[in-house]
Amino acid sequence: MDLYEYQGRDLFERHGLPVLAGGVATTPEEARAIAERLGGRVVVKAQVKVGGRGKAGGVKLAEGAEETVARATDILGMDIKGHTVHKVMITVTADVAEEYYFSYLLDRANRTFLCIASVAGGMDIEQVAAETPEKVVKAPIDAVKGVDEAKAREIVEAAGFPAEVADQVVDVAVGLWRAFVAEDATLVEVNPLAKTAEGKLLLLDAKVSLDENAGFRHPDHEALVDQATVDPLEQAAKEKDLNYVKLDGEVGIIGNGAGLVMSTLDVVAYAGERHGNVKPANFLDIGGGASAAVMANGLEIVLSDPSVKSVFVNVFGGITACDAVANGIVQALGLLEQRGEQVTKPLVVRLDGNNAEAGRAILDGANNPLIERVDTMDGAAERAAELAAAGV
Ligand SMILES: Nc1ncnc2c1ncn2[C@@H]1O[C@H](COP(=O)(O)OP(=O)(O)OP(=O)(O)O)[C@@H](O)[C@H]1O
Ligand SMILES: [Mg+2]
Repeated sequence: MDLYEYQGRDLFERHGLPVLAGGVATTPEEARAIAERLGGRVVVKAQVKVGGRGKAGGVKLAEGAEETVARATDILGMDIKGHTVHKVMITVTADVAEEYYFSYLLDRANRTFLCIASVAGGMDIEQVAAETPEKVVKAPIDAVKGVDEAKAREIVEAAGFPAEVADQVVDVAVGLWRAFVAEDATLVEVNPLAKTAEGKLLLLDAKVSLDENAGFRHPDHEALVDQATVDPLEQAAKEKDLNYVKLDGEVGIIGNGAGLVMSTLDVVAYAGERHGNVKPANFLDIGGGASAAVMANGLEIVLSDPSVKSVFVNVFGGITACDAVANGIVQALGLLEQRGEQVTKPLVVRLDGNNAEAGRAILDGANNPLIERVDTMDGAAERAAELAAAGV
């Protein structure tokens, strides 16, 4: 999960790192209140989860409350690389003398953590990295040893930080690593890490990504989720512990096992080309032990998507045998009816693998006009696409 800058700023502050006072506003009037509280010259910054805000005109200085309202009015509603600005952060200004770059990240390719640091930070860091890579230091961080003072000094020396800020950079490097570990982050990036005219080091920008797999250790991270951008169906699926991703097609997909579901998306998209270009409406993996209750929950989510016109249930029986899955499907439709759900969309079911014959017999025996059995994956995809196209 990527955080907004203001959330990253707050996180840094909680971990004792030097940040500037500020607040977040969703309206110009809220921006005014913050500017009045902070007093003097402030910076108004677009809060979007995309880089290059400054260059896009999303970071502006303002002198006093009136100008803050004007700049907030300009920036709120702006489009930055396809992201609409709904919030602005207002912070006091720093008298910036130098801009450095500092980050920790999970380096998946090299199976380690990495520190990237440069004294040539600021908005042109990408260009610096491309044209003068020798100005950017990349230091692998041992996951067990982490960053202690000695390691931090090594990085500070390698990156060539000026002597007068070296001790402060060491403190930031150690503190930032502590925050990175404590919060189970996969990225903390500070650009610029600024030196003020008085020689004080400040974290003026915050880019933080948190590892959702560690969410169980951080109940407080839940509050950082931006509810406005959460898809309601994905939210409902999450509450039911289902691995569901909303897509923008018409064929609902349910399968067991992520790999099978991924390839189901492919065959449906391919079949859809022959049927009015219908596409998969979602990814839904109901996992190995697909009980009737899980199947009912899955069907409920998929069928409640108004763009779904047909559903393709693609199951390869492994540990869970096909007869159990077939019973699950039949019972699920019964359960949905009991819950008062009107199921009207056709289901194409393909069962193969462990106990396929028994499973197919159960489906046939149920004699449900909504269930259509097709025994090959390609054939079932074709039929589901055809039914979806007919229903559009
Ligand atoms: N509080 C501040 N006081 C003075 N100058 C600031 C302050 N905050 C930001 N700036 C200046 O604005 C520039 C851009 O700000 P910031 O780094 O937050 O955005 P950005 O890097 O353009 O956005 P992104 O991180 O999305 O690419 C900084 O490099 C810095 O020069
Ligand atoms: Mg920046």
